[in-house]
Amino acid sequence: MGKIPVLVIHGPNLNLLGTREPDIYGTTSLDEINTSIYDLGKELGLGLEIIQSNHEGQIIDAVQQAPGVYQWIVINPGAFTHYSYGIRDAIAGTAIPAIEVHLSNLHNREEFRRQSVIAPVCVGQISGFGYKSYLLALHAIAGNTVEHKG
Ligand code: DQA
Repeated sequence: MGKIPVLVIHGPNLNLLGTREPDIYGTTSLDEINTSIYDLGKELGLGLEIIQSNHEGQIIDAVQQAPGVYQWIVINPGAFTHYSYGIRDAIAGTAIPAIEVHLSNLHNREEFRRQSVIAPVCVGQISGFGYKSYLLALHAIAGNTVEHKG
């Protein structure tokens, strides 16, 4: 069996990981997190591509281009989580199964973070496990523990 192709999308400000609010997001840099993601992907037989963008339109373009290339999307939409109907509609419109991930626990922070406009069009949401939230998403995909509409 070939590798399952997965696109990992890091949204805005996640390029600052390591130095950005370390009490909340930890001290691991995005490069170090990506190394862990690639390593686990290799172990689990996933074919990974990872991108980061601070721009809503670029994230929408990446989602639109995913069908036919990737079987899954793992996305941390950053602050777009809470208000980007554009990213939500891109995921819904392409019907590509997606998992929303967050380093922090959205539910023990400010009120505005409790709502995700994107989670309802995702297969599921993983929040609160630091960078390991991404690794849990890869396990979910590889372990076939989740069903999706595709
Ligand atoms: C985040 C949570 C968001 O509310 C925030 O805007 C981020 C990071 C997380 O991974 O915990 O940028 O998505």
